[in-house]
Amino acid sequence: MKFGVLTGGGDCPGLNAAVRGVVLRAARSGHETVGFLDGWKGLRDDLVRPLAPADVAGILSRGGTVLGSSRTNPFAKEADATRVLETLARHRVDALVAIGGDDTLSAARELHRRGGHVVGVPKTMDNDVAGTDWTFGFHSATAVAVDALERLRDTAGSHHRAIVLEVMGRHAGWVALATGLAGGADATLVPEEPYDEPTLLARVRRAVDARGYALVVASEGIDLGPRRGTTGGKDEFGHELLREREVGAELARRIQEQTGVESRSAQIGHVQRGGAPDLFDRILATRLGAQAVDLALAGRFGEVAVLRGETVRGIPLDEAVGTSKVVTPDWLDLLHTFEA
Ligand code: F6P
Repeated sequence: MKFGVLTGGGDCPGLNAAVRGVVLRAARSGHETVGFLDGWKGLRDDLVRPLAPADVAGILSRGGTVLGSSRTNPFAKEADATRVLETLARHRVDALVAIGGDDTLSAARELHRRGGHVVGVPKTMDNDVAGTDWTFGFHSATAVAVDALERLRDTAGSHHRAIVLEVMGRHAGWVALATGLAGGADATLVPEEPYDEPTLLARVRRAVDARGYALVVASEGIDLGPRRGTTGGKDEFGHELLREREVGAELARRIQEQTGVESRSAQIGHVQRGGAPDLFDRILATRLGAQAVDLALAGRFGEVAVLRGETVRGIPLDEAVGTSKVVTPDWLDLLHTFEA
């Protein structure tokens, strides 16, 4: 068989480990692999490179993706969809492995509906893909946010300030939740809960009274209601660019105005997406890349490799796309137990 592989959507640590997982698992069974560059754009525009085992040597621990990525939607225009199918036929690809989040996997499902032989691998630092316990990229990216919070603790303590750390995560609060829990934030705001300003201000005041400073973690996806400021642009899949709303900066302004505590904010943005994958992400990405090859070899096209408990397995793409996995009430209850 000839495999094709692409990485689409926002990059995250572990993509290279997954690509390597695909290439080496296929090679072990005597199959070759080619890589399509820059996500679905590579299939639309016929951007392809060979991927022999030697080409993936040493990439396991590297951040980003050697294949490049983009937020290209190949099914936005019918002409593009035709070009994708033509590219697959031109290169005689028997099985395509699409590594990505909800947008990339939705495109994979559409390709499958049109007769394409495709399997998926979920990834995203947002951890919001349904049907899998974890997505790779999340642990490594959130560790960066926790490190940032610990650094902010030092400077907040020195200056007796409130500092708001704005983290990514889109409309799911997993990154904020894990950062707040693992970093010991005094208040953590996630999109799954309505914004409650009195509770936030009370937590800030309690923390400042108790030890002179306060740390707040805010997910970029929270809704602060009508306010001055911007609405972000949109990407090709119609998603608002949430960081342009600068909710962290707005919260710091509100905290300072209402409590009198000098306040600052930090938006770490794409810093979270770079860097080497950690142990968990390397192993998960490797397992899922290999599992995707096994699914294709078994003829289980239209499925996506996922983690359930300690096992990797395939489930229909239909079960993984279209709905986001969001933070559940039991997690929120735990989170609030440890706030100020
Ligand atoms: O989906 C991953 C993610 O990092 C989100 O957390 C964030 O909202 C978005 O991508 C940013 O997208 P871009 O890299 O296109 O600015």
